[in-house]
Amino acid sequence: PRGASLTDFAEKINVEPAQLVQMLFSLGEMVTATESVNEETLQLIGEELNYIVQVVSPEDEDRELLESFDIEFGEDEGDESDLVVRPPVVTVMGHVDHGKTKLLDALRKANVVAKEAGGITQHIGAYQVQTEVDGEDRRITFIDTPGHEAFTAMRARGAQATDIAILVVAADDGVMPQTIEALNHAKAANVPIVVAVNKIDKPDADPTKVRGQLTEYGLIPEEYGGDAMFVDVSAKSELNLDKLLEAVVLTADASLDLRANPDQDAQGLVVEAHLDRGRGPVATVLVQRGTLHVGDSIVAGPAHGRVRAMLDEHGNELSVADPSRPAMVLGLSAVPGAGQNFIVVDDDRMARQIAEKREARERAAMQAKRRVRRTLEDFMAS
Ligand code: GTP
Ligand code: MG
Repeated sequence: PRGASLTDFAEKINVEPAQLVQMLFSLGEMVTATESVNEETLQLIGEELNYIVQVVSPEDEDRELLESFDIEFGEDEGDESDLVVRPPVVTVMGHVDHGKTKLLDALRKANVVAKEAGGITQHIGAYQVQTEVDGEDRRITFIDTPGHEAFTAMRARGAQATDIAILVVAADDGVMPQTIEALNHAKAANVPIVVAVNKIDKPDADPTKVRGQLTEYGLIPEEYGGDAMFVDVSAKSELNLDKLLEAVVLTADASLDLRANPDQDAQGLVVEAHLDRGRGPVATVLVQRGTLHVGDSIVAGPAHGRVRAMLDEHGNELSVADPSRPAMVLGLSAVPGAGQNFIVVDDDRMARQIAEKREARERAAMQAKRRVRRTLEDFMAS
């Protein structure tokens, strides 16, 4: 257990809490029985009492919690034949000022559907565009969160949200430290990369140099015999955006088998969330499998509730959200964190039970952290 209280722990190993308090006191740690203790302290107790203390990661702990409700996160249910193609989920990464935000805005505008809807585009942290490839309508989901924070936060939680990374490199600046950092992130996550060589409208743009530089890092353009697609674009002049979208679709088709079962309870990730003064907690979620419906009972991190309404990136109400669709969800009890998972469960009661357990754990973990800090401060003061 992580951040368990001494009492919890004492119960597990069948001793009196007071015994542990006393033992820790003699070892120089002042802890009350109800206080949460951190890993090191639990290890210390283990050593004293000849127990092997196994620390369970928060992810494993959560998996166990869900299992106790007969829920598995991250698996498609049913047979192979229940799976249908889903759109790729794309993150834009790259060095500071190379045009990530501008490109995301340009792609959003390039979306035919957005033009037709004519509505004001809202920032909901993710959006979907439609494009035509080989005469077929294809959709692509973009996660549109500043920098690659969302990507990193989700990866840190062991959640893979992204299928493809667009690496933006400004053609007038070339490969820079954060270009490499982003490249390494994507490689570590085993995510294919499409390179957008941006700012080609600039007189000093040198897209060939960018290709040469990235080749040195093992990202070899198709035209040089490699397998990475490079597209020269200008986010400012809106040049070649359709080609970039096409490259994403082609990369998805060539190297990924993106399918999900839409006929099951929805599961996915929280992309971002905030507290809205009028609407209460608002969370943008990415449906990864299943279909999310208005009225579903859901648990999202330590928040729970029933989906009161869903909105898309144009502010239109959605009644359902299918795999790879981002949706803004209203009706949660609290604001979940980016990268936390959301799961549709049988009923409100189950959602509340899971959320309460998660919340208690988060609180215990925070307490343990605070205690370590306090102990350190005492130590420094003495
Ligand atoms: P950070 O979020 O700070 O890392 O930057 P970013 O990568 O999001 O870059 P952003 O989109 O903010 O663009 C940085 C600057 O480059 C802005 O002044 C943009 O107007 C400009 N810019 C972006 N794309 C292009 C382009 O295709 N051509 C030209 N000429 N300027 C561009
Ligand atoms: Mg930006």
